[in-house]
Amino acid sequence: MCGIVGYMGSQEASQVIMNGLKMLEYRGYDSAGICTMDLGDVEIRRSSGKLVNLERLLNEQPLHGTIGIGHTRWATHGKPSVANAHPHKGGAVVVVHNGIIENYLALKEELTSRGHTFLSETDSEVVSHLIDENLKTATSLEEAVRRALKDLQGAYALCILSQMDDKTLIAAKSGSPMVVGIKGDEYFVASDMPAIISNTREMVIMEDGEMAVFRNGGVKFSTLGGEEIIKTPRYIDWSPLMAEKNGYPNFMLKEIHEQPRSIKNVIAGRLHVDEGDVFFEGLELDDSALRAFERLCLVACGTSWHAALAGKYMIEEYCRIPVDVEIASEFRYRDPMVSKKTLVIPISQSGETADTLAALREAKSRGAHIVSICNVVDSSIARESDGVIYTHAGLEIGVASTKAFTTQLVALYMLAIRLGRANGIIDLGKGQEMIAALGRLPALVEKTLELDPQIEEVACEYLTCWDAIYLGRGISYPIALEGALKLKEISYIHADGYPAGEMKHGPIALIDREMPVFILAPNDKHLVKVRSNMEEVITRGGRVVAFCSEGDLETGKRAEFALQIPWGGEALSTVLFAVALQLLAYNFAILKGKDVDQPRNLAKSVTVE
Ligand code: M6R
Repeated sequence: MCGIVGYMGSQEASQVIMNGLKMLEYRGYDSAGICTMDLGDVEIRRSSGKLVNLERLLNEQPLHGTIGIGHTRWATHGKPSVANAHPHKGGAVVVVHNGIIENYLALKEELTSRGHTFLSETDSEVVSHLIDENLKTATSLEEAVRRALKDLQGAYALCILSQMDDKTLIAAKSGSPMVVGIKGDEYFVASDMPAIISNTREMVIMEDGEMAVFRNGGVKFSTLGGEEIIKTPRYIDWSPLMAEKNGYPNFMLKEIHEQPRSIKNVIAGRLHVDEGDVFFEGLELDDSALRAFERLCLVACGTSWHAALAGKYMIEEYCRIPVDVEIASEFRYRDPMVSKKTLVIPISQSGETADTLAALREAKSRGAHIVSICNVVDSSIARESDGVIYTHAGLEIGVASTKAFTTQLVALYMLAIRLGRANGIIDLGKGQEMIAALGRLPALVEKTLELDPQIEEVACEYLTCWDAIYLGRGISYPIALEGALKLKEISYIHADGYPAGEMKHGPIALIDREMPVFILAPNDKHLVKVRSNMEEVITRGGRVVAFCSEGDLETGKRAEFALQIPWGGEALSTVLFAVALQLLAYNFAILKGKDVDQPRNLAKSVTVE
């Protein structure tokens, strides 16, 4: 989510790092900073806003030295500000961090009791203090880092300096990307290749659980446990643009493939396995406050509205609380019925959608309590809410929402657990079971992504169609709507989603040999009925593609194609079916030669009503 650059060599480090950070700025970060070491002194410059602000600061107050680390931040914990910008300094230690430290609150408490003073709201600052604390008894910076890393839970890519050792730069990785570039005795470290590809194409890709120690013109790679590893650099022949997309041909595909990681992020630090419960740092409502709400109102636009619809199924089923789902652009114009007893939940990736923001303000003016589900930290919707549940999907650049949607589904599922535990409808055992299902989800998403070749075949077969219908029942209905929207927005094929049972009330008249019917048939309580709906289509000569659950070889027998989607439980299978439908729309659009990242007439963030 954030960008990291480190350097050790013979050039002015601040210049090399600034050039690297500029290559990452297309992602639109909110603050940046650099630290260099010169003759044992560490000096830091940080600024909020665009990189140009940091550049201006460096012109006024230059940094010298040939070792340094830098960072561009995309806020996750703590609003965008100078205080929250990296690098963070704790005692003698300076770090830049990408990822989420799940146990930072517990570590912060412990370190505060040992006399450490924290200056930011970030999870990252805790790493610098923790290493500094270990430095008191360790024989080297390397040893202090190793000891500290043992105590970290969560994901990280870190670059570390210490004023106690002005000849050493350390990089470590677990769960967040990190590459090392080598050019003679110059070393470059980065979270993303574009940051350093203009300096060298000889790169070492670091794996989880590895550490690199740069000292005296050399580098030593080892496991976090201290076992040395030999890593051979490979030549990267990607163009700078390919490197920005991590080798993917466009951002949409990159973001589709990032979903296992973004799902890990939305879950990170929030699951209380023993209590079968979920903790949201930004919810700020205890059990009795949650129980006091008579109903929930989810309000959103587009893909986020589809997530809201799925959320209704989850919350009503698991918590037995009535949920209304509102299209934000309609909500404020019809004298909405919300009051102090309504928990209003705006859902938005960008946090800037004008209609959703207007709906939030309308609900607030009527006394409703607002807890938003947002991806962009400190966005307008997040700021104006009484509480926020961040989805931590990372920056989404492709206009078609993918990882933002699936993390919204996961956030809603976790909210259902929280509400159900608060009102006692979900007991300990059920809560634990639901949490265990969450833990399995990232691997199942990986498995779903492997279906891409089969999905491409389906897109090839129906490439000339003008229309498509997506059918689903129960919680699969919103996923059918989302599948249809994805196809429309990036391939320009007209598509509609329907509850499968509605077909016979009108849309069945459309069935012919031209229009594919994509039927979502997970192995849930609706399966028997969905099979009947499928028969209704086939009997009328319709062309059916069945998205079934893994192991169900029966349902798709009479379909032209049957895909086997991994089973993640009734509610979480929505995520897996959504991933398959993203790939379907993507393949249609690519085969038709469309620009999937910037489809015509669309904008990523719709800030006009
Ligand atoms: O940023 P938001 O989630 O508030 O955006 C809402 C819609 O504009 C957005 O989901 C839109 O429908 C996407 N293009 C869908 O891919």
